[in-house]
Amino acid sequence: MEVYTEKQQIVTKINALKAKKLSLGLVPTMGALHEGHLQLVKKALENNNKVVVTIFVNPTQFDNQEDLAKYPRTLDSDITLLKTVSKTNILVYAPSVQDMYEGHTVSQKFDFDGLEFEMEGKFRNGHFDGVGTIVKRFLEIIKPDNAYFGEKDFQQLAIIKKLVEKYHIPVTILGCKIHRESNGLAMSSRNTRLKPNYKAAAPFIYEILKTAKEHFGTKSANKVQEWVENQFKKHDLLKLEYFLIADAETLKPIKQKSNIKVYRAFIAVYADDIRLIDNIALN
Ligand code: PAF
Repeated sequence: MEVYTEKQQIVTKINALKAKKLSLGLVPTMGALHEGHLQLVKKALENNNKVVVTIFVNPTQFDNQEDLAKYPRTLDSDITLLKTVSKTNILVYAPSVQDMYEGHTVSQKFDFDGLEFEMEGKFRNGHFDGVGTIVKRFLEIIKPDNAYFGEKDFQQLAIIKKLVEKYHIPVTILGCKIHRESNGLAMSSRNTRLKPNYKAAAPFIYEILKTAKEHFGTKSANKVQEWVENQFKKHDLLKLEYFLIADAETLKPIKQKSNIKVYRAFIAVYADDIRLIDNIALN
């Protein structure tokens, strides 16, 4: 498997692939790969001749320096895992911070038409400017035909679609379903940092989302929200940061249920110092 750490080298390689008219998929990751990432890579391999997997823990999207420092970095095992999917058609690009930011490790400021102010945007200062900066940079360097993102970060997916639209970037953005452990916990690189008692407790998050979905069929959004908040008040280990039901397109919190709109419930929970997010389609 080819592993690149320098922009110039990957650009040369990409140009050679493009000259052969090969199609290119991009799967941006921060590493610590799990089955959810592998599903994205497999989907990308179905639709493209070659797939670039970027592995880069992007400092500008962290508002918490401790979270950045503790973020798992497992390049060797990530490569081993990717080899199980394809030894020939995956290219890894794992640049250094210097290679990506050239000594100027700051975000560009974006206007995502308000998508950036909801949910994660309220709780993670500057997060989406950091995500926008790095994803735009990867799209400009790799110039993929298609790029793949998981729906676990549903707001991020919406923001990247907006980024591509606003900057007229010629790429198709594809969202992939949330991949879950057999107990329902949404797969995340952060799960590896959960202490055993928190790991055992964490599937509660998806249980609550599923029941909230049932309640949404018969109850008002406010009543569902109240019910969810009460469930977490009673929980010994998990601390709810937010639960809300929003319009799946605008991401604005629901005001009045409408039959013609599509809704989704979003949740962020602390399991000790590990922040977990999840979401579910409601209708
Ligand atoms: O979802 C992630 O892992 C990151 O936010 C991304 C898209 C790779 C940008 O750093």
